[in-house]
Amino acid sequence: MEMNKAIIIAIINQKGGVGKSTTAVNLAAALGEHKKKVLLVDLDPQGNATSGFGVEKGNDLKCIYDGLINEEPLDKLIIKEVAACVDIVPATINLAGAEVELMNEYAREHRLADLLTPAHAAYDYMLIDCPPSLGQLTINGLTAAQYLIIPIQCEFYALEGLTKLIETEKIVKTRMNRDLEILGVLMTMYDSRTSLANQVVEEVTAYFGDKVFQTRIPRAVRLAEAPSFGQSILTYDTKGKGAKAYRSLAEEVMERG
Ligand SMILES: Nc1ncnc2c1ncn2[C@@H]1O[C@H](COP(=O)(O)OP(=O)(O)OP(=O)(O)O)[C@@H](O)[C@H]1O
Ligand SMILES: [Mg+2]
Repeated sequence: MEMNKAIIIAIINQKGGVGKSTTAVNLAAALGEHKKKVLLVDLDPQGNATSGFGVEKGNDLKCIYDGLINEEPLDKLIIKEVAACVDIVPATINLAGAEVELMNEYAREHRLADLLTPAHAAYDYMLIDCPPSLGQLTINGLTAAQYLIIPIQCEFYALEGLTKLIETEKIVKTRMNRDLEILGVLMTMYDSRTSLANQVVEEVTAYFGDKVFQTRIPRAVRLAEAPSFGQSILTYDTKGKGAKAYRSLAEEVMERG
């Protein structure tokens, strides 16, 4: 019997500060609004997705590290209902050690994929917030995922590093995960008033074609404020342009995935 299988999406770009965690948190919440069951997996030692949902990163908090390295089962790591229909596997600074420790582990690339397997039937979507590097953690994210969302900030040098990212994706696809596909490229911090932003969108579209989501995430102060209240934009500023954009992204994701 074919069980309901979660669609697993890694949100990835090794460039820092392009809107990965903001997208992970707000897309999770927007899918949750549609009654989709979402597991948000924080794979970044910075733990920004974790604090974005107001989870306190105390010393005794079990985190994804314990699942990847200490064989802690997934259900011991999950924090339930951080938003409507959204559960999270948190990350703390402990996860920083995993980057080196994984190097010595057997089947190290598959650790995350294996950890998530028992929960496939319980979720419609799993979103993985990747760290800004192409190290072992990100490789684990790529190996576990079926799809990628690549956020790109509308700024100078937006395309820098993308060749390396696509190269890494191809290697993982060939060696570990032949099902891996780009779900979409997401333009973030878009400001329609600047010609630069529009120029970047043009360049990225020339490169990725219709992989680029129709939805663009506008630059919005509210999006930057929401995490300090431990809330997604959908509750923090439910009628604002940021919430509108992430709701629209969720629609596109549901159509594509
Ligand atoms: N659309 C937006 N408008 C305004 N500010 C934004 C927007 N998206 C993200 N930010 C802010 O920009 C900063 C970087 O965003 P975010 O943390 O989501 O990026 P990231 O790619 O996850 O970063 P890192 O690579 O460090 O994990 C944060 O302070 C965030 O609040
Ligand atoms: Mg981040």
